[in-house]
Amino acid sequence: MLATKNRNPLSAEIKNKVGDILLPLVYTVTDLKSHVKLAHWNLRDPDFYSIHRLLDEVAATVEKGIDEVAERARQLGKVMDVTPSKVGEMSSLPPFPKGLLNRSTACDALLKSLNGTVEGLHKSIDECAEIGDAISTDLLTKVSGELEIYLWLIESHMV
Ligand SMILES: [Fe+2]
Repeated sequence: MLATKNRNPLSAEIKNKVGDILLPLVYTVTDLKSHVKLAHWNLRDPDFYSIHRLLDEVAATVEKGIDEVAERARQLGKVMDVTPSKVGEMSSLPPFPKGLLNRSTACDALLKSLNGTVEGLHKSIDECAEIGDAISTDLLTKVSGELEIYLWLIESHMV
């Protein structure tokens, strides 16, 4: 068995509690990425190209967020188990619509998924702050801020 102890100076109790907050976020943000890619691929709309390209940017930002949150959880001693079936089981997001999507349907569904993710991040930011992990609090605040920009940009495509 590989060692799971680490030299992070936070107490074992704080590391465990914060790790348990971060793990569900990794599943949810991974699910968000799949929603962004579905909209990126399945969009069928006169504004296809600009939204398709914007969603490439969103997917890259979401991917960075997944990596940063997962790596913070690893720093606190948690081990990743982010398989597609586990994401389906653990994500807190609503299912994404199937089939081709026009701009309105794609943007509306993506805003629901983004909003659900950001709400989860806000709750976790407060919890990490209360527990006393400033680094995780700061990381989740940064990730949420980066995603909230896309709430605005995507919403601005809706009439
Ligand atoms: Fe692509």
